[in-house]
Amino acid sequence: MEPPDPQKRPLGGAAEVQMCQPIFPSHANHRGELSAGQLLKWIDITASLAAEKHAGVSCVTASMDDIQFEETVRVGQIINIKAKVNRAFNTSMEIGIKVVVQDTVTRIQKLISLAFSTFVAKPVGKEKVCLKPVTLLTEQDRVEHDLASERRKVRLQQEDTFQSLMKHSSKFHDAICDQEDGMVSTADTWVQSIELVLPPHANHHGNTFGGQIMAWMETVANISASRLCGSHCILKSVDMFKFWGSSTIGDRLVFNAIVNNTFRNWLEVGVRVEAYNCDEWSKGQGRHINSAFLIYYAVDDNEELIKFPRVKPISKDDIRRYFGAIVRKRIRLGRKYVIPHKEDTPLCIEWDASKQAYLSHSNVDALGALAAKSGWEVTTTGEKVKIYTLEESDVVSVWVEKQVEGPAELAFDLLSDLMKRPQWDPHYLSCKVIDWVSDDDTIYYITCPKMSSSKPIDLIVLVSRRKPANDSNTYVVAMKSVTLASIPPSPYYNRSEITSAGFLIQRVDGSSCTVSYLNQISSGILPYFAGDIGGWSKSIEETAASCIQFIEKATNERFINK
Ligand code: COA
Ligand code: ADP
Repeated sequence: MEPPDPQKRPLGGAAEVQMCQPIFPSHANHRGELSAGQLLKWIDITASLAAEKHAGVSCVTASMDDIQFEETVRVGQIINIKAKVNRAFNTSMEIGIKVVVQDTVTRIQKLISLAFSTFVAKPVGKEKVCLKPVTLLTEQDRVEHDLASERRKVRLQQEDTFQSLMKHSSKFHDAICDQEDGMVSTADTWVQSIELVLPPHANHHGNTFGGQIMAWMETVANISASRLCGSHCILKSVDMFKFWGSSTIGDRLVFNAIVNNTFRNWLEVGVRVEAYNCDEWSKGQGRHINSAFLIYYAVDDNEELIKFPRVKPISKDDIRRYFGAIVRKRIRLGRKYVIPHKEDTPLCIEWDASKQAYLSHSNVDALGALAAKSGWEVTTTGEKVKIYTLEESDVVSVWVEKQVEGPAELAFDLLSDLMKRPQWDPHYLSCKVIDWVSDDDTIYYITCPKMSSSKPIDLIVLVSRRKPANDSNTYVVAMKSVTLASIPPSPYYNRSEITSAGFLIQRVDGSSCTVSYLNQISSGILPYFAGDIGGWSKSIEETAASCIQFIEKATNERFINK
């Protein structure tokens, strides 16, 4: 068969568009890096063109989901943005956006971001239009179509989730501290700026581009962030947000920004935008059109992350926003579990019996390395259960520490036998042994119930056990996915993967121990908290309580039978 002529390649599917942009100095900051605002502008334009291609009428940006930037783009590189309508609902549709950068010389491509925005069809002067369904051509189209409705639920619940968590914000671990040296008053980071909407900032109907507003917001937020740390800040992510109202050519847009809170190596800046037409301007009555929350980090001359000073909220509003930032952090962590943001790249390695010792060792080592990482932050503190999380660029890790009234050795025996797990963990449906490899290693086939995806989940996992070495009192049960040629992925299950997970069990005394469960989670892996963003930590707490009960019950039974 002849290779396709690239010049005759059709323009993607029915509602797919691509934008290519070489990065010039005019797109970059003083360090020669593409400004995040410019990228947001291009993303929004590409997405709106995909939306209008499907809708056949003009569309406006209703919202944008959490967006994260994986790489820095530099002058001379080329950006490619692909946008595709994943699903049309009634008047709104979800657009999936993929941004990659290509180095001109090496031609190596890297993923910058995967994003989702929602556009609403808004023909000029007409009533609402009902959109036609999207034609699904590939299996990937079907998966995205299913996931789009899950993401929509999360999006539309956003405000309620936030409000309900805010009610309990006073119980959070991060109490306001006003004793630390070097604290910065949030008021010192306040920035106000104004823009006049001109024709180049608006679409052909005179409506301001959502991306243009995002770009202006980023500029103001960046200044506010740099006021806190006295250095240049880099945008890491933008929280999910909604455009409450529209603005048009001639509007004056007033941007107010302030740092709401800092979290060790990153900080949150909030920006509120109000629009005024000529009449409103003279009366001083603006329209609130958008608020966004942006996360920044900064690096020193050695490219090491800078540790930010803590902020000192003074006014009532400052204090409310301080807790608001903590709530958003929790929601963001929850969303990382529920909504896959990164394309799945296979993580697991093929099982090879001849490399058993190496695979077993690296399994145990990976769990130890995860526990030894710095940056774990307390998320929830209970009487018997404490939850820590560790956020890295594309992964979230959870550490659940449980105080158990039972001997460490018994906890080790119970937890290292995965066939017992469905008895206490509702996220496990079934578990069977595929290969008793050795006393220390077993390969299991696991199935999990249907969560956020359309199919149930299955996994193949190598479990490696270790009793404490002479110089330690820690029992280890490490888990890692492997592939087996004899069990290929089936069409009835979504094959999932565990990067590194397991239990570290420490003897406290002869009758009690501390059981730590760790799990490093990248997108699509064991969706523990699917569905309920606000309740993800509750789901972990319930599972932890069930685990404690399981071990303590077995301890009592053993005592009675003695
Ligand atoms: N995220 C995603 N979709 C949302 C949403 C959000 N936060 N809020 C509302 N929607 C969807 C609804 O689900 C509904 O979809 P459906 O018809 O497919 O079921 C659709 O938007 C319309 O919702 P409705 O309740 O009828 O309207 P609304 O009064 O909430 O208005 C907008 C929604 C987006 C049309 C309105 O807020 C708006 O015009 N915003 C400004 C948009 C704009 O100008 N953007 C460019 C930057 S200025
Ligand atoms: P909230 O104040 O509840 O967070 P808003 O939508 O009013 O919600 O504001 C969003 C964010 O914009 C705030 O969290 C804050 O960071 C910033 N902001 C709002 N108003 C001001 C202001 N007057 N000055 C400086 N920043 C502001």
